[in-house]
Amino acid sequence: MPDLNDATRGRVLYGGDYNPEQWPERVWHDDIRLMRRAGVTTVTVGVFSWARLEPRPGARDFGWLDRILDLLHEGGIEVCLATPTASPPPWMGSRHPETLPRDESGTVVWYGSRNQFCASSPVYREHALRITEDLADRYGGHPALRMWHVGNEYGTHCWCDETARHFRRWLRTRYGGLDALNEAWGTAFWSQRYDSWEEIIPPRRAQYLINPGQALDFRRFTSDALLECFTAERDALAARTPHTPVTTNFMPLFIGQDGWAWAAEEDVVSVDLYPDPKDPHAAAYGALVQDLTRSQAGGPWVLMEQAAGPVNWRGVNHPKPDGLMRLWSLQAVARGADAVCFFQWRQSRQGSEKFHSGMVPHAGEHSRTFARVRELGAELRELAPVAGTDVPARAAILHDWHSWWATAQDGRPSSLVSCERLLRAWHQALWERNLTTDFAHPHADLTDYALVAVPQLYLLTDEALDNLAAYVRGGGTLVCGFFTGVADEDDRVRPGGVDRRLRALLGIRTVHEWWPLDEGEALTAEGAWLGAFHGTLWSEDLEPSTAEPVARIKGGELDGRPAVTRNAYGTGTAWYVSTLPEPAALRALLGRAAEEAGLAPVLPGLPEGVEAVRRGPYLFLLNHGRTPAVVPLPSARTDLLTGRAHHTGVRLDRFAVMVLAPPESLG
Ligand code: GLA
Repeated sequence: MPDLNDATRGRVLYGGDYNPEQWPERVWHDDIRLMRRAGVTTVTVGVFSWARLEPRPGARDFGWLDRILDLLHEGGIEVCLATPTASPPPWMGSRHPETLPRDESGTVVWYGSRNQFCASSPVYREHALRITEDLADRYGGHPALRMWHVGNEYGTHCWCDETARHFRRWLRTRYGGLDALNEAWGTAFWSQRYDSWEEIIPPRRAQYLINPGQALDFRRFTSDALLECFTAERDALAARTPHTPVTTNFMPLFIGQDGWAWAAEEDVVSVDLYPDPKDPHAAAYGALVQDLTRSQAGGPWVLMEQAAGPVNWRGVNHPKPDGLMRLWSLQAVARGADAVCFFQWRQSRQGSEKFHSGMVPHAGEHSRTFARVRELGAELRELAPVAGTDVPARAAILHDWHSWWATAQDGRPSSLVSCERLLRAWHQALWERNLTTDFAHPHADLTDYALVAVPQLYLLTDEALDNLAAYVRGGGTLVCGFFTGVADEDDRVRPGGVDRRLRALLGIRTVHEWWPLDEGEALTAEGAWLGAFHGTLWSEDLEPSTAEPVARIKGGELDGRPAVTRNAYGTGTAWYVSTLPEPAALRALLGRAAEEAGLAPVLPGLPEGVEAVRRGPYLFLLNHGRTPAVVPLPSARTDLLTGRAHHTGVRLDRFAVMVLAPPESLG
């Protein structure tokens, strides 16, 4: 199977989405001149070109694509060629209205924007496959081709009749018979029992709360239906170009796709990442998405899109102050990216994204943005030795989309508790301790991790529960957040409210009741070494069995109940955290658990705001702070970017980055 190395060939790729069809051909020559100036290696062409490539059903207009691919090749620029299937042309919706998605109320989602396709539509699928096959037949042997990019940010939903038929087929495969389905969905509740398959529909707009089993399965089904669209195109490409890797770009921390299942079907994993320059936690969020993407890829990955400046889809869209675009690009490389790309190459003059930045902005080549783009291209060339190397991590956060889907429904104890919020809080705490963290599926082999954190996995399969128990029994350290292990695979509450295997592992006899906290409400807890801290979102009436309380709630209805516990189990340790501790306390807690598990931060004594990451033999230092920072070095190092040697320490200005190599790794 081809992989990312087949595209990178020992370099860090640099480029962006290139939409030449938006420009007269005379601009193309200027594009290539500027790409060369910027050190661009690779551009993604054709992501939204369907209406241009196939102006009417069955017609083909490839001439322009022939010309631009040849020009790019002559200019030494390689191509990640996209299938255009994220945005069907108007003729498809007009002639085949059944390809248009319908929302929960049955209202048609029309063309005039993008992504207006029903993943279950045979007509859409057939047209998508034909244009993909024709592209592969025509360009599979083109010397500029390095990678295939299928569709774009898969994530649409549809509730139409075709989807209903497809959903039923999917359910028949999952359950075999209706009895099993009725059992799994708990249809004895509210007179929901199904008597024939034809009665089953997607969870459309209804009077009150939708059956949670039905809603969960529809999430599973939708992810699978979209994945079928991807794999059909991938197979058509792979059959024609078995040595060219195939990818599709994920949205960051996106609920709509089972990220583990999707990544397993890709040769290369890529992600689009747009942190808000005004968000004080943007760097932590970026690190989370990068760690997740690296874990999905099982190694190096592609930053397929980021912005050179502002986006245009927030309420207020902020540019990046000088240095930030470089800092976040190199953060991605530090955390395993072997490609740094943008949406998009040249900023559009028309269309919905004309105020979204590009590598070549409206202001042209004599602009601050393009100057920074050129500088970054030159630096990435220097980072070629980093390409292909690994990012070692001995801590892991467990994440599972099925659990996320199950918790993202109405009718829960608290609508304030969100998987994303908890993942971000816990990952940020580890990130601030400079503990490099992977993400892992709850069924994954955890034996190589010294620390495993579960911010929240409401739904845990039997296999996952056994896996956690075996991990701790064998000497692992588990830190487990609240409302975990509550439901089985069908979203059925486990006997006792929390699974008994998990309670045994955590040393908890009973969770008598959950006491969620309102927005703005906080509890106070106190522990010997943790001191006093606030907890938000959640609290519990918890009765330990063998676990020792690490911190107790002070005051209120739950006065004296444990807020944090620690339990010896087998040869390992299991911690339980029954609230969301304020950031400093969560940091202290995870830091202590890591320390006891023998995990050291990447570098000790780092000033606040400085991130340190090891990748291969290199030590990346990134100052996210707005003031200079001084970092002591354990041994002499040379900056790969400047060639300068540093002995006892380095000074990092605001947003500065150093990529330090041990002397022996420099040839
Ligand atoms: C996504 C899409 C791009 C573009 C950008 C804008 O990542 O894939 O086509 O719309 O957002 O930020």
